[in-house]
Amino acid sequence: MSATLRLENFGAGYGARLIIEDVSLEVNAGEIVTVIGHNGAGKSTLLRGLFNLVPIRQGRVLLKGQPVEHLASDRLLTAGIAFIPQHRSIFPRLTIAENLRMGAYTVRDPGILAERMAGVLRLFPILQNRLGQLAGLMSGGEQRMLEIARTLLQDPSLIMLDEPSIGLAPRMVDTVFDTVRLLRDQGKAVLMVEQNVRKALSASDRGAVMELGSLRLIDQARHLIDDERVARLYMGRR
Ligand SMILES: Nc1ncnc2c1ncn2[C@@H]1O[C@H](COP(=O)(O)OP(=O)(O)OP(=O)(O)O)[C@@H](O)[C@H]1O
Ligand SMILES: [Mg+2]
Repeated sequence: MSATLRLENFGAGYGARLIIEDVSLEVNAGEIVTVIGHNGAGKSTLLRGLFNLVPIRQGRVLLKGQPVEHLASDRLLTAGIAFIPQHRSIFPRLTIAENLRMGAYTVRDPGILAERMAGVLRLFPILQNRLGQLAGLMSGGEQRMLEIARTLLQDPSLIMLDEPSIGLAPRMVDTVFDTVRLLRDQGKAVLMVEQNVRKALSASDRGAVMELGSLRLIDQARHLIDDERVARLYMGRR
């Protein structure tokens, strides 16, 4: 069976500048792959390029074996790729219920929508009790959960998250990574970018190190956690 996501020599950039170069990577169903790297390494550009928000310059993107690098973001969404950007993307002045419905705008069948909504609310009871509340009044971590919940209404096969733990209190960080693991256990392929390296890798199956727009190292997450160089450069261990 083909990988959910397969990148072959992928490259993307702004204007004349190639930021991402020659990236080859696979993410399988039921697998979390986390990309780590310093500020400015190109992690966000990789995800934004995959979602066609940054012009693709080279290589191929295959979703379940089908080339999708020519598709615009809205088509990628309906093809099964969900993207949660680094900066919050909820609508603060809309209620939680309205935010959820916005995430499901491509789901035409009301029966399917109701079924998915029920499933998502079972997964996120914290949202269930507060559907009428303004989303902007939730804590940062709760807003992240809402973003994740919202993408699930599309029933994506691949979920891309750009620094889901950024700015969150440690307990909330754990909750967010627990949720990401739940997605994995439901069979989703997850491609995540994180600076919270130790916790993110602990939650992941495989990891990749990005330097200057290229992947330098791809390995089992537990091998990366134990790697002296990775620890020194990315986990602040002296
Ligand atoms: N809109 C843009 N136009 C031109 N260059 C950009 C743009 N956005 C980012 N860049 C450049 O692309 C490079 C990679 O940036 P990117 O945001 O992908 O890094 P990152 O690894 O996500 O960093 P961080 O950890 O700080 O989020 C940087 O050199 C940055 O200056
Ligand atoms: Mg970034």
